[in-house]
Amino acid sequence: MSNPRKILLTSALPYANGPIHLGHMLEHIQTDIWARFQRSRGNMCIAVCADDTHGTAIMLKAEAEGITPEQLIDRVNTEHKADFTDFLVAYDNYYSTHSKENEQYSRHIYQQCKQNGVIAVRNVRQFFDPEKKMFLADRYIKGTCPKCGAEDQYGDNCEVCSSTYSPADLINPRSTISGATPVEKDSEHYFLTVSQHSDMLKSWTRSGVLADSVANKLAEWLDTGLQDWDISRDAPYFGFEIPDAPGKYFYVWLDAPIGYMASFQNLCDRTPGLEFDDFWRADSTTELYHNIGKDIIAFHALFWPVMLETSGYRKPNGVWAHGYVTVNGEKMSKSRGTFIMARTYLKHLDPEYLRYYYAAKLTPTVEDLDLNLDDFVQRVNSDMVNKVVNIASRCAGFIKKAGGRLSAHLSEPELYQTFIEKGDVIARHYENREYNRAIREIMTLADLANEYIQAKAPWSLAKQDGKDQEVIDVCSTGIQLFRVLMTYLAPVLPNMADKAATFLNLSSLDWTELSKDLCGHQINKFTPLMTRIERSTVDAMIEDSKQDVAAAKSAVSEKPQTDNTIQFDDFAKVDLRVAKVINASAVEGADKLISLTLDVGPLGQRHVFSGIKSKYQPEDLIGKNLVLVANLAPRKMKFGLSEGMVLAAGDQDFWVLEAHESVKPGEKVS
Ligand code: MSP
Ligand code: ZN
Repeated sequence: MSNPRKILLTSALPYANGPIHLGHMLEHIQTDIWARFQRSRGNMCIAVCADDTHGTAIMLKAEAEGITPEQLIDRVNTEHKADFTDFLVAYDNYYSTHSKENEQYSRHIYQQCKQNGVIAVRNVRQFFDPEKKMFLADRYIKGTCPKCGAEDQYGDNCEVCSSTYSPADLINPRSTISGATPVEKDSEHYFLTVSQHSDMLKSWTRSGVLADSVANKLAEWLDTGLQDWDISRDAPYFGFEIPDAPGKYFYVWLDAPIGYMASFQNLCDRTPGLEFDDFWRADSTTELYHNIGKDIIAFHALFWPVMLETSGYRKPNGVWAHGYVTVNGEKMSKSRGTFIMARTYLKHLDPEYLRYYYAAKLTPTVEDLDLNLDDFVQRVNSDMVNKVVNIASRCAGFIKKAGGRLSAHLSEPELYQTFIEKGDVIARHYENREYNRAIREIMTLADLANEYIQAKAPWSLAKQDGKDQEVIDVCSTGIQLFRVLMTYLAPVLPNMADKAATFLNLSSLDWTELSKDLCGHQINKFTPLMTRIERSTVDAMIEDSKQDVAAAKSAVSEKPQTDNTIQFDDFAKVDLRVAKVINASAVEGADKLISLTLDVGPLGQRHVFSGIKSKYQPEDLIGKNLVLVANLAPRKMKFGLSEGMVLAAGDQDFWVLEAHESVKPGEKVS
């Protein structure tokens, strides 16, 4: 093998104001497959990501929940990490943009930009909410359309007549945050004067770092001339304050891509031998790729390279843009139940089904990818279960019966050689992110293997006298072919590959191991590798997704609460939910309290202190369903934060719900 490549790969940083859904998962699965493929080939490939934690939306959401932004982003970070881990997406580091590393690099890059003359300061006139005392982005202003008179239209365009305008043209504008009538006000803003680097961008975007169609689109913008990019926001804002500019904050999109660096720095700090400079210095020879969605190309292919260039860092070797996930041919829809959260999927289905389906359809273009649910069921069952797993399951028993050792030579060397030789083509497809073509090649090989086994029919041979050796030879070949296929599929199906490695008695299914065949090799007992998907399970997931939306809606419409007193008219708003006790423990120094960790389904996990220790043993509560007041403002107690309240009446049956199949955490209680 030639010198291993050193590669740093990133996925776009998901916003910390909401859960991961199957749209996001496309990107993370795409990244993970590529990283695993590179490692399998003997290269070094580090994959990092993080949560994108700053901005107005996160600030307001935390306020609505009655918690600090830090508490919100910590909770979401835990949920996001669990989602990725459970989808077998293995980042070397999954960090947060709200970190000291990110603040350092953001300040440094900003200062470099300032010193090098690409920062301009000028006044901007904007709407201001006099009650909330904050400037309002267009999406926080609504009013009557100046063209057609439709009410309740957003600040920049009318959904009824499609006209676009400036918020100042709206009739009767109001702030969607406080309801107040906004006033116009001036404020100083900081800009990155991107156009100074037009020439660099014109050649860089054409240097092979982007798909041609993407480069063409950017060329249109570059030719009409780039506008300066506003990188500051006024307080109140959740983010990093701009050095020497009190009350001014970096716009979230300034520090978000720097979050790639920060996540990597954080990894370097705890990984001996891993050097930040090797991957970011202007003259570094390592490779850097960003995997992103088509909606955020301008940030990555125009603004980000300018920031990097001006502050003396290297630019990426590739900005890979993918399309959007649609479900059954349409945009993911909350009411149809096709806006599927990663967690909801995982409650019903094996992550490898989706990994396989996405891989089978992924191309390196910005074309959208349709998750057609009928096709999903059909394809996973016919390719994975009927074709691939079938090869091993039909052969394993005969080998096992004969002692578990594979034949000393290949009975079909040419067929085996075809499998090995196809590896180059398959590797090239993976490398070019043409996973769809890689999968097509692999399935063609799987067909060949099945045809071979079908033609030899070891199950009939086994019934004939004197054919014992032939049975072993045929099945050994089948298993060797299966091993090659699983090596090619391992980047897509890491769990199945692990199980296959155990069955094959191999320490790894890395590509680099294929130079050795398995003649004379001892194997282990076969265990089922993947089961069929039932359409009914998919339907159940869709039903569940409809419920998530109902829950999310009630969570969003919660009013900020300043104290815990529930007034009479507030009583109707009390949100009672089924909550399952995941953990319960005594609280040191408080003899009445039990500390409860609750699963509230789509609302996530909650932590609550409850004064019920005199009646219950903590361990007796684990696994029980309780009733939780889910929209009670969190209270800071001496022992920590309590995020809600469980209902108790002294009589266990009154408030501990029977553990019944139909009672799901997060469900509304009426
Ligand atoms: N926080 C920014 C990215 C900052 S990167 C320095 C952001 N966050 S996001 O949560 O809205 O999206 C994260 C990624 O998921 C983006 O690449 C986006 O394109 C992708 N997707 C979001 N919805 C998607 C689909 N429905 N389908 C495919 N990808 C989707 O943008
Ligand atoms: Zn209108």
